[in-house]
Amino acid sequence: GAWTAQIVTLFPEAFPGILGLSLTGRALSEGLWNLRTTDLRPFGIGKHRNVDDTPAGGGAGMVIRADVMDAALREAGGDLPVIYLSPRGKPFTQARARELANGPGMTLICGRFEGVDQRVLDAHDVEEVSIGDYVLTGGELAAQVLIDATVRLIPRVLGNQDSLAEESFSDGLLEHPQYTKPAQWEGRAIPEVLLSGNHAAIANWRSDMAERLTKERRPDLWRAYEQARMDPAKDRQ
Ligand code: ADE
Repeated sequence: GAWTAQIVTLFPEAFPGILGLSLTGRALSEGLWNLRTTDLRPFGIGKHRNVDDTPAGGGAGMVIRADVMDAALREAGGDLPVIYLSPRGKPFTQARARELANGPGMTLICGRFEGVDQRVLDAHDVEEVSIGDYVLTGGELAAQVLIDATVRLIPRVLGNQDSLAEESFSDGLLEHPQYTKPAQWEGRAIPEVLLSGNHAAIANWRSDMAERLTKERRPDLWRAYEQARMDPAKDRQ
């Protein structure tokens, strides 16, 4: 079957959301990937189908129960890698997106509240992944970020594979600036070299700009890039 994103969430109506539009939406209708949601609520306890309870040891907020999440994960089934979206997870990268795109899919756990009981994460060998150093209200937006970044790397989803080879992180650098018509706009010109027709000079200008931007904005990426240049055997992200 096609690559599958399986999502366990209290808000199944949040999907496909923006993933139903544009490139990912077209690919979804064409069957290039599948989206399955599992609503956590029916697995809740008692008349009110409670999915959470107070944290052991005390403190603020609520924690999703291990037994409830376990039941939902069993129902979702399959042997896809299971990822829990959380700000304390390992940072998501283009490299991880590539790995996931080359696999059968992923099961994503969206939390709300203070988190999920650790025992169910341990029992299902769950990987924790963060999309950045900020706190969202819940995992649903983060899940959509992972799916978007991954689905566009599935073969035949992106029409022009050249744009993948040229984009940020394919060579470890940020992308150079882009321009289009008109040649003059409100007193601002397109850099002359881009209109010169000199393809070698254009390529040089672009790599200079990519290096300059990376040095300035992302010293962390720049150091990794320099390391990789010195030791090309060592893979970069
Ligand atoms: N859930 C809440 N904040 C998050 C973040 N930064 N990354 C992933 N999942 C989250």
